[in-house]
Amino acid sequence: MIEAQRKFRKLILVCTNERADGTECCAQKNAVELHKKIKEAIKAVTTDVRVSKSGCLDNCTTGATVVIMPDNIWLGQVTEEDIPEIVSQVTE
Ligand code: FES
Repeated sequence: MIEAQRKFRKLILVCTNERADGTECCAQKNAVELHKKIKEAIKAVTTDVRVSKSGCLDNCTTGATVVIMPDNIWLGQVTEEDIPEIVSQVTE
């Protein structure tokens, strides 16, 4: 039987998918660095929000893609300038 538990209040997924064939993907749009910076910013203010890398979220043309769960908020064309707004979204 699966043991369910609640570990974090929210989960932020940052697509860091990279395509070997060079087609449009979030990794081309600074997503790896973006994930690192979001993680640092969240860690500075709370421990109950998890920031994780994800594979493709099927929003490639509007990447870098960030999803906030369980709120089901999908953000596109995210840049480092958007990090304060993301932090405020999950800490309000
Ligand atoms: S590569 Fe990021 S959403 Fe598809």
